[in-house]
Amino acid sequence: MSDDNSATMRAISQNAHGGPEVLQEVRVPRPAPGPSQILVSVRAAGLNPTDWKHRSAGVFLNRLPLTLGWDVSGVVEAVGYGVTIFRPGDEVFGMLPYPHGVGSHAEFAVGPARAFAHKPAGIDHVQAGALPLAALTAQQALVDTAGIRSGQRVLVHAAAGGVGHLAVQIAKAHGAYVIGTASSPKHDFLRGIGADEVIDYRETDFAEATGDIDVVLDPLAGEVAARSLEVLRPGGTLVSLLPLSGEVLDRAAQRGVRATPLLVEADHAGMNAIADLVEKGALKAHVEAVFPLAEAAEAHALGETGRTTGKIVLTVEGREQPQ
Ligand SMILES: NC(=O)c1ccc[n+]([C@@H]2O[C@H](COP(=O)([O-])OP(=O)(O)OC[C@H]3O[C@@H](n4cnc5c(N)ncnc54)[C@H](OP(=O)(O)O)[C@@H]3O)[C@@H](O)[C@H]2O)c1
Repeated sequence: MSDDNSATMRAISQNAHGGPEVLQEVRVPRPAPGPSQILVSVRAAGLNPTDWKHRSAGVFLNRLPLTLGWDVSGVVEAVGYGVTIFRPGDEVFGMLPYPHGVGSHAEFAVGPARAFAHKPAGIDHVQAGALPLAALTAQQALVDTAGIRSGQRVLVHAAAGGVGHLAVQIAKAHGAYVIGTASSPKHDFLRGIGADEVIDYRETDFAEATGDIDVVLDPLAGEVAARSLEVLRPGGTLVSLLPLSGEVLDRAAQRGVRATPLLVEADHAGMNAIADLVEKGALKAHVEAVFPLAEAAEAHALGETGRTTGKIVLTVEGREQPQ
């Protein structure tokens, strides 16, 4: 390994699939930006359930060793040939192309310039690093896929989660009437971010408590997806963040509603839309916990409980001294 500190970087890596203990801090070569790419000095990087799913089972990426992380907020260190929209020193946030562009849980990350947008000046890197994957998912589900319009009724399942709490705010920003499901201790939080109605899914059958819904955002699938079809009005849309069974797809067709899975994509226009909402004060990530990069395993363990509110973020503090 080189002694030249600028040639290497700290990264969280794994050599096997398994629990949080497989995550190790290592030194790896620092990436260089290719044509149309930027190299970002990572200041903060959100965690998402797909991080612990990939850590434990590979999912879309079976290669090892693997550095996880798709969310990035940081400072442009260098730009590749042909990049015109950013220059070194710019503060940016974005999502590395999902799934193959992975690797932000490190001191530096490289990705297509147009996977990023300028970080809104009014938020710090922790806030900005919390947003990309979860906010893009909500934006692509509600706006690009379902085409939400003012006055529509939107049901957001798991509304206190990483995607859910941003979806509530994006739907409100588009003038929708928003109903969110969560356990009761999280209801004040949901009302505070703009939910018009909240349903305690542990006490109440949402399919009986609501109806005439235009758009359902469903991060849960299974039985929740099947029963969500019952609350959609004809012509409504169910966007699922997990695969849908053939049975659900068939039932949707019979009922005259649209049901579709969605996989989040790197998206320059989407990142700009998210930045606009942040600048207008319409979108803010709730950050439940912040961990230094070296404590990535603890951060995974917390996230994997599935009970967190909002987001968990890793921070990269300072630069290492030459060894
Ligand atoms: N397809 C894609 O591109 C894509 C993108 C992003 C996320 N996802 C997937 O979407 C899912 C959610 O992601 P996330 O980041 O929002 O997860 P998360 O932040 O870990 O979600 C945690 C929240 O889920 C809530 N919850 C759990 N079970 C619930 C239920 N039965 N009903 C209502 N709320 C429930 C919890 O609230 P309580 O404590 O109140 O239960 C908690 O607040 C994950 O499976 C993730 O992999 C897919």
